[in-house]
Amino acid sequence: MLQPRDKRNLGLLLILSIIVSCLETCALSAVMFFISVATNFGSIGQSKLAQWLYTASGCTTYPNFILLLGIGLIFFYIARAGIAIGHIYLMIRFAQGRYKDWSRKIFKDFLQLPYQAFVTKTSAKISQILFGATGNTCQVINSLLTISAETFTVGCIYFMLMYVNWKMTCVLTLLLAVKTGFIVKLFSQALTKAGEKSRFFSTKTAKSHGDAHGNFKMLKLLPNHTPIINVFEQATEGVAQSNILNVTLQGTPRFMLETIGFFILIGIILYVIYRYNDASNVISTVSLYALAFYRLLPSLNKILASYNQMLFSKYAVHDIYNFLQLPQEKIGEQPLPFNNNITIQNLSFSYDQLKTILTNVSLTIPKGQRIAFIGESGAGKSTLVDIIMGLYTPTSGSITVDGIPLTPETMGTWRNKIGYVPQSIYLFDGTVAENVVLGRPYDEHKLIDVLRRARIYDDLLTKGGIHTRVGDMAIMISGGQRQRIALARALYGDPELLVFDEATSALDHITESHIMKEIYALDQHKTIIIIAHRLTTVEQCDVIYTLEKGALQHIEKNNLKHSPSTHQATL
Ligand SMILES: Nc1ncnc2c1ncn2[C@@H]1O[C@H](COP(=O)(O)OP(=O)(O)OP(=O)(O)O)[C@@H](O)[C@H]1O
Ligand SMILES: [Mg+2]
Repeated sequence: MLQPRDKRNLGLLLILSIIVSCLETCALSAVMFFISVATNFGSIGQSKLAQWLYTASGCTTYPNFILLLGIGLIFFYIARAGIAIGHIYLMIRFAQGRYKDWSRKIFKDFLQLPYQAFVTKTSAKISQILFGATGNTCQVINSLLTISAETFTVGCIYFMLMYVNWKMTCVLTLLLAVKTGFIVKLFSQALTKAGEKSRFFSTKTAKSHGDAHGNFKMLKLLPNHTPIINVFEQATEGVAQSNILNVTLQGTPRFMLETIGFFILIGIILYVIYRYNDASNVISTVSLYALAFYRLLPSLNKILASYNQMLFSKYAVHDIYNFLQLPQEKIGEQPLPFNNNITIQNLSFSYDQLKTILTNVSLTIPKGQRIAFIGESGAGKSTLVDIIMGLYTPTSGSITVDGIPLTPETMGTWRNKIGYVPQSIYLFDGTVAENVVLGRPYDEHKLIDVLRRARIYDDLLTKGGIHTRVGDMAIMISGGQRQRIALARALYGDPELLVFDEATSALDHITESHIMKEIYALDQHKTIIIIAHRLTTVEQCDVIYTLEKGALQHIEKNNLKHSPSTHQATL
């Protein structure tokens, strides 16, 4: 998941962490040193370092030396603060940089999912991965960096303590190790579960909102929204509960460590008092223990908190890793001329083992032909055109264009030749122009032309023209206008093959016949596949096929109105 450049930056960050840790330790020792020499001038002569500094400073009196030392320390603390802040900035910049990179990669991978894989993913799950999991994975990186930095700090302080009193330090190490191990053991399972629970309920919250948003109109007709609100509330309650547990457990180690520390400290003092009736001879050692303990506590606490955060967020790393393992559609742009025909041979298809949707379908679509598929609902018409567009791979059989098979290498070229109006149209919250252009190069002249051909331009003139907003999920326009905008969108790419899947079903007869006239009048080189239920829509087609129980049958146009299989279509 990390690029070589990221790994190098991570290494540099770790080195900076060591420097910051060393500075931390120096800062701690320096203040102790300053207090000791400032309160007892005599100690300057006893310490080699103080003696050396005194000579090097060129001061002639001890107060002057203390003043100089104090000023030097102030500058040292300012520099240390600057470096520490820079360290925090670089750490968060690194983590957020990965957030940006991974989000982009995941979004790009999402767009390259094969359609077959895409239909199995819910939008709530994808959003959860894009917005939740990437953020949480960066938390894990942050936590890892914090753990490394604090481990160095702890290491440096230990080195110093070992130098001062190794026996006491060993006892301290043992006590802290046992306590830390105990806390880790106590919390790890609960935090991992809380993390998984948080992910589960976050996805459920997003889904619950998405469901209500999509069915808003239907919900308006329902007398009671309590069951839907309850589902949403249960999901948010799950998120809240797991967050409560997470935050509580994140804060707990500090208090546990402190409490146990106090317990040991008081225990030692009481033991010495009762055993020897006087604690003065051990008080310096106990003070050292207390001081070291309180210097180590924040670092240990940060290590534990970061570790807990990692446990809480570790699901996110799994999610991202699994998502990045999903198959990617690698399609090429190898030349695929379409001058003669599309040939489908013995094509069979099933979504799963349970049901075969298409059986041994064979047909040839000459270039420029207007062809219609009719048949009852669920017969497999949309599936057949999805296969022709290369969105599904046939279970068996083949599709060739001018004799060249549709393969991943030619698929990019093939799809670029297709304009498609789907059965269920999704327009996003933007202007009509944005929806029609759909990220392609903007050409206003062409835009107006396709809007005119789709018979929507005049309607738009009474509103805001091509910049009329369509609203979220095209809520501000009528169903027929939505279809006409989708039609303009399909025409905008000037495709060689046009596929209309019930593209005019929401239009009145007059508008539909105007549009169909426009469609039939399109350049004779354009091949058109129309799926429709109304016979009036397809009667001008060159050939009409019906799909029945997965099999394709050619229908003579003369027999159209009498054929039992077209009964559905006439309704
Ligand atoms: N992604 C999918 N996974 C599994 N089954 C599917 C999937 N999409 C469609 N089906 C099933 O395949 C069959 C054919 O569906 P298809 O959408 O091709 O029918 P259709 O002829 O276009 O129907 P309609 O006229 O209602 O649009 C149906 O039984 C449908 O339930
Ligand atoms: Mg369909």
